Amino acid sequence: MQIDHKSLAALIDAAKTLDAGFANLPPFDAQTPGAARLTEILNETASRLQDNYPYFHPLYAGQMLKPPHPVARLAYALAMFINPNNHALDGGRATSALEKEAVAEIAAMFGWKNFLGHLTGGGTMANLEALWIAGQLAPGKKVLASEQAHYTHHRISSVLQLEFESIPVDKHARIDLNALEKRLAAKNDVGTVVVTMGTTATGSVDPLPEILKLRDRYNFRIHADAAYGGYFTLAQNLAPQTAAAFAKIAEADSIVIDPHKHGLQPYGCGCVLFRDPSVGRLYKHDSPYTYFSSAELHLGEISLECSRPGAAAAALWATQKLLPLKKGGEFANGLEQGREAAQALYKNLRTDDTFLVAFEPELDIILFAPKPNPKSPSPFAPTSISEISTRSRQIFEAAAKKNLHLALAELPVAFFEKTLPPTVQRDHPTLTALRSVLMKPEHAAWTDKIHSILTSL
Ligand SMILES: Cc1ncc(COP(=O)(O)O)c(C=O)c1O
Repeated sequence: MQIDHKSLAALIDAAKTLDAGFANLPPFDAQTPGAARLTEILNETASRLQDNYPYFHPLYAGQMLKPPHPVARLAYALAMFINPNNHALDGGRATSALEKEAVAEIAAMFGWKNFLGHLTGGGTMANLEALWIAGQLAPGKKVLASEQAHYTHHRISSVLQLEFESIPVDKHARIDLNALEKRLAAKNDVGTVVVTMGTTATGSVDPLPEILKLRDRYNFRIHADAAYGGYFTLAQNLAPQTAAAFAKIAEADSIVIDPHKHGLQPYGCGCVLFRDPSVGRLYKHDSPYTYFSSAELHLGEISLECSRPGAAAAALWATQKLLPLKKGGEFANGLEQGREAAQALYKNLRTDDTFLVAFEPELDIILFAPKPNPKSPSPFAPTSISEISTRSRQIFEAAAKKNLHLALAELPVAFFEKTLPPTVQRDHPTLTALRSVLMKPEHAAWTDKIHSILTSL
């Protein structure tokens, strides 16, 4: 895992600095039950944690999992000596300030200065808040999202008792604009359209500029779910259509972005932002408890969750201090490297004779499946969609035995039509494909190795 012992020394150093801030207190005997067995139990915990995929290694190229930056891990651990609660200033004065600063930096990345926003436990909670506000602003109206939007939107709508409808996608897994317009024109009952800025399965970006034009005509709210894709706003190697969508993100009404996906943070760090800060009024609640003991804004007054880890804010703040959210900066460069990796692997797979590919990767997710080769029938030469799916699953298992960890995704056959020979029997509407999220900067140097393992299976 290449634990950097120097960085652990930095933690001890910083812990001493933290401690010095409380040096004026009278000493006391801390009670730590079980302290004598701490090392033993911690080692036992380490042994149990060995039962994990190696997410930190470039050969882990499966699900959307990215190791936190060392500064995020260490700042989180440092804050744990205090364990602040960002619900109220009473529980987390310093980390509430860090959260406000870090969230303002994320909002500034999208071009927002006046906004309302805060961290959440993750993308699901952040999207829940965005749709909760949207539902209050347009009571009785529907929520629309594409068939490739994250499934959470359907579930959240059901929790909020908002009616939800799926809109078909085009061959690039983006919301189908014709279908969307037809639905909007059919009935004036749509309150919100969820625009996915990077779908979970394929990394496709919905055409935001065109959806904004539809908003002018049909008057609905736009919620941009940029939980996975949001940081690509900083990338300078996107295709023109994708870049044009991110360039318009400031015109959305709300945005969700997950620092715990592409923002180098430990889990437990999502973020919701609203363009109109006055929606804060909709969070208002009368609590019989005296949570908020000062006139200054407490984050609990503008968030649905109550207790939240201040440590998440400390980690995010420290990361952004080290790696500012700037185009051309080191952080942005890391995202660009992931995208380069996806493009390089796509090119390799497209040109060899072993795999079918879906459309070109828009961000850093690539999809592929074994190529049928009826001319040289081997036990593994699939001639139908079902056989391709079976073979994908076999490759998934075989790759893992060679330490290459991929993911599987069940996707419409239409996504592969461009490279799928007409002779293949279309016996199933969806195909089990191999999916690889190349989200670590290290992936850029590993695509040849990944490709050679894939072609050896
Ligand atoms: C686009 C999108 N939205 C929402 C979510 C849900 O986020 P979380 O898993 O942080 O709750 C995900 C997760 O992958 C996602 O990709």
